[in-house]
Amino acid sequence: MKGIILAGGAGTRLYPITLAVSKQLIPVGDKPMIYYPLSVLMLADVREILIIATPADLPQFRRLLGDGSHLGLQIDYAEQAHPGGLAEAFIIGADHIGTDSVALVLGDNIFHGQRFSDVLAEHAGDIHGCVLFGYAVHDPHRYGVGVTDEEGRLVSIEEKPARPRSNRAITGLYFYDNDVVNIAKNITPSPRGELEISDVNRVYVERGTASLVDLGRGFAWLDTGTPESLREAAQYVSILEHRQGIRIACVEEVALRMGFIDAEACHALGAAIGKSEYGQYVMSIAGEFGR
Ligand code: G1P
Repeated sequence: MKGIILAGGAGTRLYPITLAVSKQLIPVGDKPMIYYPLSVLMLADVREILIIATPADLPQFRRLLGDGSHLGLQIDYAEQAHPGGLAEAFIIGADHIGTDSVALVLGDNIFHGQRFSDVLAEHAGDIHGCVLFGYAVHDPHRYGVGVTDEEGRLVSIEEKPARPRSNRAITGLYFYDNDVVNIAKNITPSPRGELEISDVNRVYVERGTASLVDLGRGFAWLDTGTPESLREAAQYVSILEHRQGIRIACVEEVALRMGFIDAEACHALGAAIGKSEYGQYVMSIAGEFGR
């Protein structure tokens, strides 16, 4: 399975923070926001990843993550010059996807929960159709919303409905079979000229090949769209990290635990930024693995 991180958009609700810096590069706690969705793809065992961003922002992403080889990944970059909608990612990324299935994650989505990697492994395998991840929220009108029938089956998807028919938001992590490229090419743009991800998902729902995985209570799917939600996300991360002495979305640690790099390489990555507590942590994890 290939991966795409969509990190476009102007982050207008975070102005002036995002006037000069991409939203997905600003910190959430002790690390850049994009580390969180990147670690999700890595936990799903996805190693060939395309990062899509605006032409102005791409150089900074490249500076941060390079070709990904230090993490045992292959990272490529592509421009989204105009806001063409989330589903444009499949058209921009068509060559990257090739004949494979694909996982799309939005660059501003933060997921965290016990055994999340098991959930990912369970669903990332052989994909026929699409796999969506649902999460109960108190403000579903801000998201894509899954409409279910009396038996709880997914019967439709509505994008930011004024009167949501359920509280089940569709999160910004999506697994698709290869058909998604053709579907994205054939959907009608919204009145604003954007290719909506919900329109792609609706095609799968109508075909009867969309499944919805409920992320459940006790799981965290955090918003980073406004200064307040960004602050809450950072608080969540730092409370857990401080209490448990762990780090969430430490990509070097994930690479080591997934077997993408060895302890020696992990230690070197920590040492390179060893003046920070984050770097010290990376070195200590390498130590646990015998370095
Ligand atoms: C997008 C999608 C929406 C989804 C959300 C998740 O909305 O259109 O369906 O629920 O991401 O973060 P946006 O955040 O781009 O407004």
